[in-house]
Amino acid sequence: MRNAQSTGPLRIGVIVGSTRPGRRGAAVARWVMEAAEGHEAVRAGDAVFTLVDLAEQALPLLDEPVPALFGDYRRPHTRRWAEVVDGCDAFVFVTPDYNRSIPAALKNGIDYLYAEWTDKVAGVLSYGVQGGNRAADHLRSILTEVRTVVVPTGVALSIFTDFDFTGADPGDRTAGRFAPGDGREAELSTMIAEVVTWSRALHPVDPAGVAAGSPELVG
Ligand SMILES: Cc1cc2nc3c(=O)[nH]c(=O)nc-3n(C[C@H](O)[C@H](O)[C@H](O)COP(=O)(O)O)c2cc1C
Repeated sequence: MRNAQSTGPLRIGVIVGSTRPGRRGAAVARWVMEAAEGHEAVRAGDAVFTLVDLAEQALPLLDEPVPALFGDYRRPHTRRWAEVVDGCDAFVFVTPDYNRSIPAALKNGIDYLYAEWTDKVAGVLSYGVQGGNRAADHLRSILTEVRTVVVPTGVALSIFTDFDFTGADPGDRTAGRFAPGDGREAELSTMIAEVVTWSRALHPVDPAGVAAGSPELVG
């Protein structure tokens, strides 16, 4: 797990919670990445955002013999995933609503690990027919269990108002270009600012480490 004091920019992972072909999550996560580029912490070099795509991890359904709480990871795919999550100080979760909850792939990805989530900060962005609020609520609760602190501001996007179906074939169930509505950018910006501020509070920069120019973690 990352130590409490660190040098270098905050590393914030934008986790794409859906994995299916044609998912809307990919466009939403790209929007988060673009918005993050404009954030003052990123422009100042204090924070770096990285896309973390669960689909690329291709995790099987949890197949570790020992619960993640004990940190006794046996499978190579678990170790690879642990390295990715451990490399992040904070997260923005991009999750759709699947039957009133988060996608199974996202729950599975969280269940694989424990310490790598602990004492870190997360923002929750959800989307769905009704803003994905039920998925967001479940995700907040799940993250509490692995000791990830969720910032108060969330973003809840609606398939009806944040996607554009102009000219789409009514029979096309995969249609809809991502077109976030008025005010969404501001909501996202507030959430990102909270993630950066809260994360800095949990992972203060060590002045000695910075002065020494050391890229190593300290504390
Ligand atoms: C299995 C499944 C279940 C869904 N259940 C809900 C739901 O309960 N509430 C809702 O608002 N939207 C629901 N939807 C609609 C999704 O939120 C919407 O299709 C969204 O684009 C899915 O995210 P993705 O495109 O990134 O996979 C569901 C979609 C799928 C595929």
